[in-house]
Amino acid sequence: MTQVLKFPQDFLWGAATSSYQIEGAWNEDGKGESIWDRFSHTPGKVFNGDTGDVACDHYHRWQDDITLMKSLGLRAYRFSIAWPRIFPAGRGAVNSAGLDFYNRLVDGLLEADITPFVTLYHWELPQALQDEGGWPVRSTAEAYVEYADTISRALGDRVKNWITFNEPWVSAFVGHWEGRHAPGHTDLHEALATAHHLMLAHGWAVPQIRANCPDGQVGITLNLSPHMPASPGTADRAAARFADGHNNRWFLDPLHGRGYPQDMVDAFGDTMDFVQPDDLETISVPMDFLGVNYYTRGIARAGIDEDKNAERTVFRGDEITEMDWEVYPEGLYDLLGRLHFDYRIPAIYITENGAAFNDTVAPDGTIDDPQRLSYIKRHLEMAHRAIAAGVPLRGYFVWSLMDNFEWALGYSKRFGIVHVDYQTQKRTLKSSAKWYRQVIQENAVQ
Ligand code: FCB
Repeated sequence: MTQVLKFPQDFLWGAATSSYQIEGAWNEDGKGESIWDRFSHTPGKVFNGDTGDVACDHYHRWQDDITLMKSLGLRAYRFSIAWPRIFPAGRGAVNSAGLDFYNRLVDGLLEADITPFVTLYHWELPQALQDEGGWPVRSTAEAYVEYADTISRALGDRVKNWITFNEPWVSAFVGHWEGRHAPGHTDLHEALATAHHLMLAHGWAVPQIRANCPDGQVGITLNLSPHMPASPGTADRAAARFADGHNNRWFLDPLHGRGYPQDMVDAFGDTMDFVQPDDLETISVPMDFLGVNYYTRGIARAGIDEDKNAERTVFRGDEITEMDWEVYPEGLYDLLGRLHFDYRIPAIYITENGAAFNDTVAPDGTIDDPQRLSYIKRHLEMAHRAIAAGVPLRGYFVWSLMDNFEWALGYSKRFGIVHVDYQTQKRTLKSSAKWYRQVIQENAVQ
């Protein structure tokens, strides 16, 4: 007999998306240009020349999409707001048509009894602010506070769950060091300044959002992964510690009052001249919850002559998603335990978890995606185990509600539990979506 894993009564079942990845309507109703508009319109930046110009056309189909969510029984929906729809020039004059769109969306969700989780920043910096220097300059953090204040004043009577930033690590390091994401820069100092200003903006915005929405909950979403050494050798262990410092501690530590990790400050060897007195105090403002995006683990191998490395004892498993990410559900359990025991986080939501696989549409139109279903199921089993171990995990948002624009990889990777035919914009539930609907209904995984 299969075991039935019951979840706590008030566990919040959701799905997540982000504005640039689904909305389209990139230049409608007064919206300004974002750094992702600019980046995707620059030849050679995004796979196949794909852009978010139309995406899932959610901007026009949001009502049908709410109906879709309701048919799945979703209790919560995490979406993001496109800053340049609200402030086309980054700051100053508000574009009320942009605000109207999110007002209608929030009302529609509440009518459908779906709790909105709003991400204020999922990577869409107004290009006008990029032109003034972007996140590497401090004034961008000030502009963000004006934006966060405007949105939380406008929606705070109805939206009670706020996420200031999605994955600052990706904005900072993939956008400014690796250059794979907008704005496509490759400068470590800029990346570190960006990380600092993102966290500073978070620290300034939290009290502002609370003032506008006193009964609200405010947090930030980080992409976190356990990093293990490929062998017990000293060099591999140092590599794993570096990866953990870079990916996890660089954000977790300052957000939890520990300042920047000294081993990483030394390793980066940067001037860190952008840190001003009191910044770290601001950044460590208490949060109501932490959002965790988990996809895979890291296995660190020191970049030295393979012969000089200790023999590997840890290998990547055989199960790999279309992103080339190892399927490693145990990592979620390890991570949640660490957050609970080491950082004493008061409440955690898994704000993203899911997998890209190549889906085939059968001749009868159905889409069977057993690998995605199994991925989600095994991660939920680990989430359940973490709850049993005392981790204050309050909810789970699958990434993603529907197939969408996967950043630099364009439309080539499908993460949705709902299939999108980009020619017709038809949405079709995959078998994982039907299974997830049942999980929600029963509040249990079996
Ligand atoms: C995360 C992003 C999200 C999505 C998933 C696959 O890094 O937050 O927008 O692209 O990865």
